[in-house]
Amino acid sequence: MVDAVVWDIGYLVSAALFIMGIKKLSSPRTAPDGNRLGAYGMFLAVLVTLAKMYSEGFIGLELIVGGLAIGTVVGVWLAIRVEMTGMPELVAMFNGFGGAASALVGLSEVLGRLQTGNVPPPGVELYAIWVAIGLSGLVGWLTLTGSMMAMGKLMGGFYIPLTKKDDRGRRKWVSFPTWGPPWLNIVKVGLLIASVVLIVLTIQEPNNTDYIYGLVGASCLLGILFVLPIGGADMPVVVSLLNSLSGIAAAFTGFVIGNNVLIIAGSMVGAAGLILTFIMCKAMNRTLPAVLFKSFGGGGRETVTRTKVGSDPEEVAMVCDGIATCVIIPGYGMAVSQAQHTVKEFADLLEAQGVDVKYGIHPVAGRMPGHMNVLLAEANVPYEQLIEMDDINSELPECDVALVIGANDTINPVARSGEGPLGGMPIIDADKARVVVIIKRSLNVGYAGVDNDLFFEDKTMMLFGDGKKMMNELNSAIKDL
Ligand code: TAP
Repeated sequence: MVDAVVWDIGYLVSAALFIMGIKKLSSPRTAPDGNRLGAYGMFLAVLVTLAKMYSEGFIGLELIVGGLAIGTVVGVWLAIRVEMTGMPELVAMFNGFGGAASALVGLSEVLGRLQTGNVPPPGVELYAIWVAIGLSGLVGWLTLTGSMMAMGKLMGGFYIPLTKKDDRGRRKWVSFPTWGPPWLNIVKVGLLIASVVLIVLTIQEPNNTDYIYGLVGASCLLGILFVLPIGGADMPVVVSLLNSLSGIAAAFTGFVIGNNVLIIAGSMVGAAGLILTFIMCKAMNRTLPAVLFKSFGGGGRETVTRTKVGSDPEEVAMVCDGIATCVIIPGYGMAVSQAQHTVKEFADLLEAQGVDVKYGIHPVAGRMPGHMNVLLAEANVPYEQLIEMDDINSELPECDVALVIGANDTINPVARSGEGPLGGMPIIDADKARVVVIIKRSLNVGYAGVDNDLFFEDKTMMLFGDGKKMMNELNSAIKDL
């Protein structure tokens, strides 16, 4: 048997890699290295854990190899297959799997202890272990079902497997409503109290598995009901909260099985996710209780009935000729059309004419934190040109042209009214620029499902079409001038 100190050293090294990795994530320049360090840390932690379990005779080689093989194949397959626009859903799913893994480990620990009669007598040890098991179950199961709901909402719904395909080759589709009558909050609080009571009951009667399975059911339902009323502009907050919860569940499970690296990594994910949640709340001008306990409704995809005559790339090229300043405001549509390289080419063309070009980045533009920064970095846009919302807003009243590509909610002036799903969310003040050019395919609404009056203003030129295609045409028109 290998000395326990060897495992602890392995865990210490992986914890150090996590900490160095997270430090490097604080700047876009060092973030890829940070990501790599974190991945090495996790790889080491997995190897040490498997070696430890094998050396202690806890599991056989076939389980280790089988588990690694299945996990690797599924992980590689998902990573290769996922489009950049599908990343938020993948992240939501990973959060859910993280919560489920923690909850399952907690469950197997409690069932194993009951089977072998290894239940401590009433006292501090029993309370500590059973409370940790209960909390890892509550948070873990809640994270699983909440994340599955969030993933479904981000995708707009789920296909039902094996249902008959329609003439366009699509299976039946279920979408989740954004639904939350006031009484639902009472149900949620009731379920939370019931879960705490069930944890207390498991301590009083550790051998009664009914309480344990009751806790699994209550937590799963709680996860669904927590995410059900959330939609529109509040989704980024809930996704980062679920990310934090998956870490907290892992930390509780670390206490249950006495695994230090799980406690460290779980606490780091929990803390980082919570910080991100508060950053998101601040960006959306919301408080966390308001997001969790209020329904903004809406989220439906309305179609506007007003019309607007579109401009053509030649007209926009002429408007851009001779300007002094241009702010490019990217959004989700830039990610969909993968237009980042053509956007950079546009910026290069203007800069060659002496135009001061900057990018206005909204904190929730796209579908995941830092979505626009990642895409623009891929196109080698200098980080110094990416300007945060508050700073770019102070420059927009003096800006000649605001070029909006695939953004909608994040520039929607209705948010200033305080009404509806976007109410109160700070926006990028594109409407304050002298001329606004908006590239998107139609007058359709964005993620929050709210019409945008900016499309219809006189100073707004709509370039209707796919983002990349229109940027290419605009670049050609500028070159032809
Ligand atoms: P959105 O408001 O979602 O609008 C994106 C627009 O892109 C759509 O109106 C769409 O209009 C257009 N578009 C789609 N495909 C396109 C293509 N191929 N070419 C050109 N345009 C295309 O985007 P946003 O302003 O970035 O706002 C983000 C929204 O997502 C916010 O409501 C935010 O709360 C939510 N959200 C964000 C996150 C994070 S963490 N960032 C997570 C979840 C949800 P057409 O169909 O007319 O083309």
